Amino acid sequence: MHAPPPSTLPADLDRTRIARIVADLGLPADGLAELASSETAANRPGLLAALEGPDPAADGSLAALAARGDEVLAPDGLLLLFLPGRPTDPQLARVRDGLWPRFHVVAVYTLAPGRALRRTLQGERSLEQAGADAPTGVLLAAHRREHVQSPAFTVEKFDQAAAGWNGTPGSPGYPHFRWMRRLVGRFGRAPAGARILDFGCGAGWVGIEAAQKHSASELRFFDPSGEMVAIAAANAEASGIADARGATGFGERPPFPTGGEAPFDLVLSSGVISFAPDPTPWLDGVAATVAPGGVLVIGDLHRDSRGFRRRRARRPLLPVRELNALTREEVCTALAQRGFSHEASAAYQLTRPFPEALHVNEERLGGLLTWPLLWANRLATAVDRGLGSPAQDQFDSWVMRLRRTD
Ligand SMILES: C[S@@+](CC[C@H](N)C(=O)[O-])C[C@H]1O[C@@H](n2cnc3c(N)ncnc32)[C@H](O)[C@@H]1O
Repeated sequence: MHAPPPSTLPADLDRTRIARIVADLGLPADGLAELASSETAANRPGLLAALEGPDPAADGSLAALAARGDEVLAPDGLLLLFLPGRPTDPQLARVRDGLWPRFHVVAVYTLAPGRALRRTLQGERSLEQAGADAPTGVLLAAHRREHVQSPAFTVEKFDQAAAGWNGTPGSPGYPHFRWMRRLVGRFGRAPAGARILDFGCGAGWVGIEAAQKHSASELRFFDPSGEMVAIAAANAEASGIADARGATGFGERPPFPTGGEAPFDLVLSSGVISFAPDPTPWLDGVAATVAPGGVLVIGDLHRDSRGFRRRRARRPLLPVRELNALTREEVCTALAQRGFSHEASAAYQLTRPFPEALHVNEERLGGLLTWPLLWANRLATAVDRGLGSPAQDQFDSWVMRLRRTD
C-alpha cells in the first residue's frame, strides 16, 4: 500500500469537514482530489484547492491553477476553491474572472461551523447538517466553460425556459419584451416578398416581426431547443405567416438553407452569439446562410455597458453569456472578414437603473411604470440612433445591420 501524498491543503480543509458540500454537489464521497498534488491523475470528478491571502486574484496565479485543473478534471467535473475567512463578493468576482475562460463559477457556499449557505443563479438556500466542524470560509464551485456551454446543457436550459421566454400578454413586462423584438425584427432592409431566416429564434418574435414588415414569401427559423421551435411555429401561425417552417439545430451547423435551397435575403440573429462557446464556427455558420447582396441583422447584450460592468465587478455568480459576449465592434470586425459591410448600428435597453426599475415595476408595482419606462427607452434609443449611436455604454443591448458584399 502506498502512503497518501502529503497534503498541501490547510488542516481546516480536511475533506470530512466539507462532506456536506461534496454531497450537495453530487460528487462521490471519495471523488475529490487535491489540485496541487502531482499524484493527481487525469479525469477526476472533483478537484480541491485552497487560496490564500485577502485578494488571491491579484497575482495572476489563478490562470495557472485553472490550467492545471484543465489537465486533470473530468469533462463534467467540478473545481472547488476554498477561500478562508470572509471574502467579499467583489473579491469572489475577481476570483471568478481569474478562472475565466477555462472555468465558470456556478455555486458559492458560505461556510461556518454548523452553517452552510448555498448561492446559485437560481437562488439561495441554507443547507441542513452542515457539520459543527465546517471551516469558516467560502467554497466556490466551478465547471469547465465547455461543460456549461455544451450543446446538451443549452438544449436542456432553453427547453425549460421556453414557456417563460414567450412572455405573457397582458403582464407588466410584455410591452417592453415585444418592443425589443420589434426593434430588432424591423432593423433589416429587404425587398417585399423576401425569404427570411431567424437564426436562434427562441419564441420566434424577431423573425415574425421581420416577416410582417417585408411581406416575406417564406419564414424559416431554428433553435437548439425543440420547445422553442414549437412555440415559434405556433406564434408564426397565429400571426398569419403563410409559409413558416422551423427546425432544431445549432448556429455552428445551421439546418437552413436545406440541401438545394438558396441562402436567404434577410437573416436575423438576436441575443444568440453570446451562447456560442466558440464564435468562429458560429459566425461561419451565420455568414453562410446570407445570400450575396443579402442582409444580416445581428444583436446581443452589450458586455461593457455601465450596468453589466458593475454586475461583473460585484457579483460572483453570473450567467455565462455575460462573460462570453462579444462587443458589437468585435462582431463587426469578424463579419467584415467574412465579406460583410456595416450599414447601421443601434443601442437599446437603457442600462442601470432601468432594468432594475423594470423588475420592480413587474414584481411590486403591478405595471404602474410600464409605459413611462417604455417611452424613456424608446426615446433614448431614437436619440442615440439619430446621432449614429455614440452612447452605447448607456444601453444593455446592441443591434447591427450588415450587407454581404462578396
Ligand atoms: C436569449 S434567447 C433569444 C431568442 C430570440 N432570438 C429572441 O431574440 O427572443 C437565445 C436563444 O439562442 C438559442 N441558442 C443558444 N445557443 C445557440 C447556438 N449555438 N446556435 C443557435 N441558437 C442558439 C437558445 O436556445 C435561445 O432560444
